[in-house]
Amino acid sequence: QASGASPKSIRARKGGAPLACLTAYTTPVARIVDRHCDIVLVGDSVGMVLHGLPSTLAVTLDMMILHGQAVRRGVENALLVIDMPFGTYEESPAQAFRNAARVMAETGCAAVKLEGGVDMAETIRFLVARGIPVMAHVGLTPQAVNTFGGYAVQGRGADAARIAADASAVADAGAFAVVLEKVPETLARAITADIDIPTIGIGASAACDGQILVVDDMLGLFTDFRPKFVRRYGELGQAAAEAVAAYCDDVRARRFPAPEHVFSDVAPGTTA
Ligand code: KIV
Ligand code: NA
Repeated sequence: QASGASPKSIRARKGGAPLACLTAYTTPVARIVDRHCDIVLVGDSVGMVLHGLPSTLAVTLDMMILHGQAVRRGVENALLVIDMPFGTYEESPAQAFRNAARVMAETGCAAVKLEGGVDMAETIRFLVARGIPVMAHVGLTPQAVNTFGGYAVQGRGADAARIAADASAVADAGAFAVVLEKVPETLARAITADIDIPTIGIGASAACDGQILVVDDMLGLFTDFRPKFVRRYGELGQAAAEAVAAYCDDVRARRFPAPEHVFSDVAPGTTA
């Protein structure tokens, strides 16, 4: 990735104007998001959002690379970050490096994101030392849904210390930013004050250094997923359903195609 935001410039935004971040999975949406956002994330949420998978667990490296290449073509200014999917980095630092290097080489992204705190700190240090900037992700980490037994809020009460330790560990390991997902506001504020890299919240309050949402969720695009932490800035799914219904009505009533959509036998401007 050549121009615009870099992992270094994002890191330097700690404590400053909030970082506005969204996901994207396709070129046209990436173009829109890139015009306004600081970070465009190709999240492994792509598996649930675009491919109808029940969780992110079955998302593959090839899926991330394909969508990463599409998004790359639409990103000029924002920092492009691509999620490492489940099973492609947890086994060892060497496995993580091999797969993250492939993601970077084949997509042209400048950074990857992976889930995990204390347990992934060694891997983050290994990647960063070898030229792969890492965004971390702690709190609710959806790839651990089977360990957590669901998608519940993390870090309430005595559990706060565990998430705080995760955030400190990834900051110490050299991550340039960290996503805090679905944690209480008090914890998000404490972590944001405690670590020297930007915290990017999703369901983690305005106390964070930035925010991120799944773009389809905030656009209301083809999703019944309405978690408490999403504000809907559009109802595009409903608009699409209405458009499809109107098209079908018009076809059945022979109102479409209309004369302006039809080709005559003679090319315009010629005489028969
Ligand atoms: O996969 C994803 O979209 C994410 C963001 C919601 C942080 O990880
Ligand atoms: Na993700």
